[in-house]
Amino acid sequence: MDAHSLKQQVAKAALQYVTPNTILGVGTGSTVDCFIDALAEAGIALKGAVSSSVRSEKKLRDIGVPIVDMNDVTELSVYVDGADEIDPAYHLVKGGGGALTREKIVADISRQFVCIADASKLVDVLGRFPLPVEVLPMSQQAIARKLTALGGQVKLREGFTTDNGNVILDVSGLRITDPVALEQTINHWPGVVTNGLFALRKADVVLIGSPEGVRTLR
Ligand code: A5P
Repeated sequence: MDAHSLKQQVAKAALQYVTPNTILGVGTGSTVDCFIDALAEAGIALKGAVSSSVRSEKKLRDIGVPIVDMNDVTELSVYVDGADEIDPAYHLVKGGGGALTREKIVADISRQFVCIADASKLVDVLGRFPLPVEVLPMSQQAIARKLTALGGQVKLREGFTTDNGNVILDVSGLRITDPVALEQTINHWPGVVTNGLFALRKADVVLIGSPEGVRTLR
């Protein structure tokens, strides 16, 4: 089974968490793109969606799902999103697509975070995938120095601006044994908008696509 088929398989499995005619939280990425396609194919009608990116917003509108402003809702029952890495406690690294800040905001108001990914995303310890950190442009160098002092190799994501008008520093070489502590540490630095660790608000359910079928971890 190729990578795209695995994404389609797991995306389809996530449909069981969607209640028709409700407002759904929708993340970003190639697996979420497959999920939006699966929603359309299954003909599931939604009242609307709170989306974590301009990219997903466009795709949702294209299939006829109204986009809801997050200021108009207090809570979402379900949020579906992908991940770049998943550890055994369902802490995640996200932000490979650069939508980490909005993803964290939508996940935070959702009762259930359903993470969809293929088996290649499972790791024992987070850090193999470079950790994205969204920073205000003026703080780029200051934050890069602090991340380097933590032992990371820092690279500016060239030619990329987030939906919020900021830049992303990708940090490789970290072995993240305490994701909750690292998430808090980095987020306390002035100039950081947020980092791609989803440890304080981790996934509640992880659906893993594999050639043997979809595994549900919770
Ligand atoms: C987007 O910013 C990310 O958090 C994605 O959820 C993550 O990168 C997974 O993307 P793929 O589904 O494309 O692997």
